[in-house]
Amino acid sequence: MRVSVDMTRCQGHACCYEFAPELFTVDDSGYSTIGTGKLVPPGQEEKARFAIKSCPERALSITED
Ligand code: F3S
Repeated sequence: MRVSVDMTRCQGHACCYEFAPELFTVDDSGYSTIGTGKLVPPGQEEKARFAIKSCPERALSITED
């Protein structure tokens, strides 16, 4: 599984980072810095899905390998 952020949608809410700081990173202003196609380690998929649903802008997406 990979996760990506659409920076045209990210508004810097940082909910993704709050729910899963080991998977999602943000800059000093709270905007996502994961880019596209970041690999989710095995066993972290459910946590990633939960964090993605937390984004109020729906800026995050999943790609299954
Ligand atoms: Fe951006 Fe959504 Fe995370 S707005 S910082 S991708 S919670």
